[in-house]
Amino acid sequence: MNADIADLPARAEQAAGGATSLDEIQRVSTDFLGKKSALAEAKKALGALDPDARRSAGQLLNEVRDRIESLLDARRHELSQTARVAQLETERLDLTEIRERTRLGHLHLVTQARDRLEDLFVGMGFTVAEGPEIEDDWHNFGALNFAVGHPARAMQDTFYVNYGEPESTLLRTHTSPVQIRVMQSQSPPIYSIMPGRVFRQDTADATHMPVFHQIEGLVVDRGITFADLAGTLEAFTSAYFGPGFTSRLRPSYFPFTEPSAEYDIRRPDGSWLELGGCGMVHPNVLLAGGIDPEEYSGFAFGFGIDRLALMRHGVDDLREMFINDVRFLRQF
Ligand code: PHE
Repeated sequence: MNADIADLPARAEQAAGGATSLDEIQRVSTDFLGKKSALAEAKKALGALDPDARRSAGQLLNEVRDRIESLLDARRHELSQTARVAQLETERLDLTEIRERTRLGHLHLVTQARDRLEDLFVGMGFTVAEGPEIEDDWHNFGALNFAVGHPARAMQDTFYVNYGEPESTLLRTHTSPVQIRVMQSQSPPIYSIMPGRVFRQDTADATHMPVFHQIEGLVVDRGITFADLAGTLEAFTSAYFGPGFTSRLRPSYFPFTEPSAEYDIRRPDGSWLELGGCGMVHPNVLLAGGIDPEEYSGFAFGFGIDRLALMRHGVDDLREMFINDVRFLRQF
């Protein structure tokens, strides 16, 4: 019997090695350590031995049991490790499936310029206002002091909309009508900018588009002078373009401002670029907006956003902005 018992660990090791799951290990354990195992039978037989033989046989049985238990434990551990690795393998996400980094789009060049302009003026204390793109003749021209026969009202410059009386409704030709809407809806002090899309019957070329963007500025308060206008535009120029840029105002004419000026910027290379118009708000315009010109004065300016973006990025054809070729747009 002793020889058989001494063989048990080796046989158990072989059986455990053949087991491929924790359930199978449990079966091996029952076979070798369970109530009906050779070990249990041998233990029962101990009672029949004399005390000395019983002690040494008992010791052998305990050793054999310990060895079998520890080798089964080792195999159990091994199998659960393998099971874990297999599970991790099935749960693994194959990130190599995403071969190319997704290319994110970004805001259009004109939108970026508009956002930047808004940020800048908001930083200077201005609020942002908007108005409709389809306007009536009064807001676009009449309230802005355009005389009845003014050439800007002519069919060849303005897109009229077939609505109401002939030539009473149009696509706004500038953002200045929003000045009137702002004055009508709030009382001074007014410090507002009004960005938006405007429309003119122009043939597309390197410097003109029938649809483009302007940003209008309007300040109405007590004691506003031309110096405030010049100072505001100068502060804006260096903030937007950089310290090497300055501005100048050249006498000009707009029906809605008096005096009026063209706003030019001077680039670091010394060349000048015309950006837009400006001036002191005409008393008739303040009146149209419901503001007393005896008590308040103001200035206004307006310039093209597209042209600004164009020159900031050294693009030499305005049409590039609207063709929407991603190879062009992607660069900015
Ligand atoms: N509305 C004028 C234009 O479109 C620009 C302008 C705005 C001029 C405000 C003076 C004051 O050309």
